[in-house]
Amino acid sequence: MCLLTDRVGADVLRPGRLRVVATVAVGFDNIDVTAATAAGIVVTNTPGLLDETTADLAFLLILAASRRSTDAESALRGGRWDGWRLDGFLGTDVHGARLALVGYGRTGRAVARRARGFDMHVRHCTRHDTRDPGWTADLDALLGWADIVSLHVPLTEETHHLLDARRLALLRPTAVVVNTARGPVVDTEALAGALERGEIAGAGLDVYDDEPHVSPRLLEAPHLVLLPHIGSATAATRLAMVRHACANVDAVLQGRPPLSPVNPQVLA
Ligand code: GLV
Repeated sequence: MCLLTDRVGADVLRPGRLRVVATVAVGFDNIDVTAATAAGIVVTNTPGLLDETTADLAFLLILAASRRSTDAESALRGGRWDGWRLDGFLGTDVHGARLALVGYGRTGRAVARRARGFDMHVRHCTRHDTRDPGWTADLDALLGWADIVSLHVPLTEETHHLLDARRLALLRPTAVVVNTARGPVVDTEALAGALERGEIAGAGLDVYDDEPHVSPRLLEAPHLVLLPHIGSATAATRLAMVRHACANVDAVLQGRPPLSPVNPQVLA
């Protein structure tokens, strides 16, 4: 069993040494699945257990970044709040805003459901038509439309720096970006630059390129809410994830199909 903080590479994925790698996470970019498959080792993850919990956290970041709650609370705690001002800590409205979901799997859909309660206009971008209202394959056009962009794609070669400097430049100056997926989906240096220059209004991050290292530039960037990768961090969800990973290991060791293999071809 491994965690998302463990790198599981070809060096340990040798035939005969291991039968299963069960990660206690939905993302499995830390595991060399190609090497595991070649070695006949089944890899499992924990899908379907953390979507709602992660969507709650994405919504927290959407609200916090839009309403600048980190800026406001730090001012209060730092003794810099000198009273109610007509123009104090002005943010942007979440209710009625245009929300762009990049990726529309279980977590993206769970965020879309929450957005309905806030009367938001929701569109989503995936490569293939989801046949759900608001679908587009045109990410660039979607970014130009959005007030808020929330990322819900796995980290792959294709999604690495999906939000790069060119795409960040397509955002409106009032836009807010939220990342609860994986750090490298956003070019963080470009994001910090966009915030520093006031080219976007704010951002909220739960994930980073080289966790637990957070670039000093991000720590200094204005209008940025930073959380330490706590998307799935509720007691109930983490317990469900651990139980699920144990059940996956148990199944493989007992010769039964695991609940959630990511390389089911190994079992064929
Ligand atoms: C959390 O980031 C996960 O992939 O489970």
